Amino acid sequence: LTLAASAIALTVSMGTAQAACDDGEIVIKFSHVTNADKHPKGIAASLLEQRVNDEMNGKACMEVFPNSTLYNDNQVLEAMLQGDVQMAAPSLSKFEAFTKKFRIFDLPFMFKNMDAVDAFQQSETGQAMKETMTRRGLLGLAFWHNGLKQFSANQPLELPTDAAGLKFRVQTSDVLVAQMEAIGASPQPMAFSEVYGALQTGVVDGQENTWSNIYGKKFFEVQDGVTETNHGIIDYLVVTNVDWWEGLPGDVRDQLATIMDEVSKTRNGEAFAVNEAAKQSIIEAGGVVRQLTGEQREAWVAAMKPVWSQFEGDVGAENIAAAQDINA
Ligand code: LMR
Repeated sequence: LTLAASAIALTVSMGTAQAACDDGEIVIKFSHVTNADKHPKGIAASLLEQRVNDEMNGKACMEVFPNSTLYNDNQVLEAMLQGDVQMAAPSLSKFEAFTKKFRIFDLPFMFKNMDAVDAFQQSETGQAMKETMTRRGLLGLAFWHNGLKQFSANQPLELPTDAAGLKFRVQTSDVLVAQMEAIGASPQPMAFSEVYGALQTGVVDGQENTWSNIYGKKFFEVQDGVTETNHGIIDYLVVTNVDWWEGLPGDVRDQLATIMDEVSKTRNGEAFAVNEAAKQSIIEAGGVVRQLTGEQREAWVAAMKPVWSQFEGDVGAENIAAAQDINA
């Protein structure tokens, strides 16, 4: 057994995945990288799995593989194009090889809160984004929310100058690389599954993530503290392989699409609360959470917002304007 195969065997034997699918059922493997519980994506994927297996029994069978047990986000889209996995929900930062349109979601301070993100995604422009990668073989089925990002490091961060010279893990996104360079930090792209180890061993000094990821993967335990900067977002696109999706019997596809819609609406409405609970859990576990004064926050905005102009050509000035109208 390879390491990956034994990890899968272990997951299945531990019962994380559902009981084996019956003969004749369409098998839908859903791979993701976060915790299964106390996490907006983990909870949504589990609810989707439960509903598909209850309501489509005999027709379809879903198996969710959380915690990068099947693939990490840097591999899953290629695996999907090969037909080895049918659904995934990578963060919008991880589609760079397929589209530059999603870069708008990585630009610092673009959206004032998750309601603004939701409104943008529900607009005609946002909905059209689900289909921007069909020529490359990927179809977006739904946006799923996580939440606003916070910075953490192995020393206190109050002003952007505190981050200068430090190494920060970022997702594999040129926008996030530029954002870290704008504050004089050194960006280190790496997979989510490697972040805890990199923080613990000092390969990197800090990272940026949502409360649910900082709590779920225990990053706060190997950091000096987390500063509530709310400087950006992590959100997801549930994607599938276009050919697989279009090859499904019509009734199966329609039922899956309906369940996906309902699960997305229900769980997106709870994502903020899930992150707030994770923040409380960090504090209760002894993690340090720092607040910024208004003046300190303005310094972060002033340092990072110039990044917008570098990517205006990719995301469209009209889309930036639309996002700002929603914030107003
Ligand atoms: C990250 O890589 O930090 C996140 O995209 C992980 C996730 O899926 O929330």
